[in-house]
Amino acid sequence: MKVIHKLGMLALLLTASAMALASGAEVHLDKAPIDLKNTASLQRGAKLFTSRCLACHSASYMRYNRLRDIGMSEDQIKKDLELPEDVKLGSTMQAAMDANSAKLAFGEAPPDLSVIARSRSADWLYTYMRTFYADPGRASGWNNLVFPSVGMPFVLADLQGKQVLRIENKKGHEVKKLVLESPGTMCTAGSSLCVAGYDAAIADLTNYLVFMSDPSKMVRYDLGYIVLGFLFVLFALLYALKKR
Ligand code: HEC
Repeated sequence: MKVIHKLGMLALLLTASAMALASGAEVHLDKAPIDLKNTASLQRGAKLFTSRCLACHSASYMRYNRLRDIGMSEDQIKKDLELPEDVKLGSTMQAAMDANSAKLAFGEAPPDLSVIARSRSADWLYTYMRTFYADPGRASGWNNLVFPSVGMPFVLADLQGKQVLRIENKKGHEVKKLVLESPGTMCTAGSSLCVAGYDAAIADLTNYLVFMSDPSKMVRYDLGYIVLGFLFVLFALLYALKKR
């Protein structure tokens, strides 16, 4: 009887771990420090996005002039983002490379990133941009922990540096670890963490991607305060009335 019970437990455990593996649960996602009220961070994220991502990806739902919502003046939008003269502020963010040539070059077309923070999640994006590693077996030379065999080359390697994959065996479990082999301009040698530099820049970028996936959130925030303020005044008036 006891043996059957134990076997049953074992089978249960095995199915549970198989399910965890099948759902990709073995890749841990880091928590993205999102703060949509931090306009300085959003502006840094916007700069990184327009200078490094728009080469291949579009953000077709996003107009340049909506960056006023994160506190940028029209002048700043033009100068800080180094927009070419012919780009109108009312136009949407279009990729420099057309989708067909990109598909030929990378095997997959770079998807539009307007609402990527909603289809993936902030945590997924924050982890994705920090877990590229060198893989000589891939055409691009890069692979990714949360997006295995990704077609995107690691375009921020100059900032983070080159990470390599180490597989360690911990109590019979394979644990994948990334080690910074050669540091980029934002990470220091000898550490696998780039908290102050690269990780902070990716936090800004993720923050911006979250803002972009729902720019009206900012307006809703403001509206929320106005409604709260109104209710407070109303409450004070009613209270005074009651006192009388
Ligand atoms: C050189 C071209 C190129 C540049 C520059 C580039 N990407 Fe990509 N990206 C791609 C391609 C190609 C894919 C599709 C990969 C695939 O499906 O295998 C992709 C995929 C992605 C995905 C996954 C989308 C999904 O859910 O399928 C995200 C997120 C992403 N890129 C973000 C970025 C960000 C953020 C930047 C700027 C820092 C950037 N990319 C710059 C080419 C590029």
